[in-house]
Amino acid sequence: MNSDRYLTFALGKGRLANKTLALLEQIGITCEEMKDKNSRKLVFVNEEHKLKFFLAKGPDVPTYVEYGAADLGVVGKDTILEENKRVYEVLDLGFGRCRMCVCGPACAKELLLHHERIRVASKYPLIARDYFYNKKHQTVDIIKLNGSVELGPMVGLADVIVDIVETGSTLKENGLEVLEEICPLSARMIVNQVSMQMETGRIRTLISQIKELC
Ligand code: PRP
Repeated sequence: MNSDRYLTFALGKGRLANKTLALLEQIGITCEEMKDKNSRKLVFVNEEHKLKFFLAKGPDVPTYVEYGAADLGVVGKDTILEENKRVYEVLDLGFGRCRMCVCGPACAKELLLHHERIRVASKYPLIARDYFYNKKHQTVDIIKLNGSVELGPMVGLADVIVDIVETGSTLKENGLEVLEEICPLSARMIVNQVSMQMETGRIRTLISQIKELC
């Protein structure tokens, strides 16, 4: 263990980062600089605990962690599955709970039931492909979208979507529904594989302190 070395955290911007910082505060790790909404700084340091933090786009967090630019990261399980990087997933943080689902108009149920060759729109093409090809053994055409995926079936681009459902209100307001559930999702802590060996003590202590709160 090298206690002079900074451990670096990559946090997915937005709600996940705020909830992670709140969790860290509960174990006595604060980063006041990060709370300043007007700051344009990208990297924040906690000298006392020899920690560094930076905010990144969610889908980039596993990349920073895989390459060791960050020792640890916090990101949604959806991103971990879609990015498929070589990182250790060590902890379910329990917040950001939602579900990955196949959704569409009620009439699309038949198409799923009969394994029709349908069009599936998603921000998560890897998750969609894995679900239809490997779990359901159904050949489908996957169309990658970057957001507002619910539009897909509404404007005739796709028969169904694979997307995150939290409260279900986006689906409801647009006349769509959950047709099949793929998996539950929540925020997870990930660790670089080399850091896990080199900084085992510090990382394991952090994990067990946070685990007690989850
Ligand atoms: C996510 C997701 C759904 C919505 C689900 O979209 O893609 O559209 O939230 O939440 P609900 O079940 O509580 O209505 P996000 O807000 O991240 O934006 P996006 O559509 O641009 O991906």
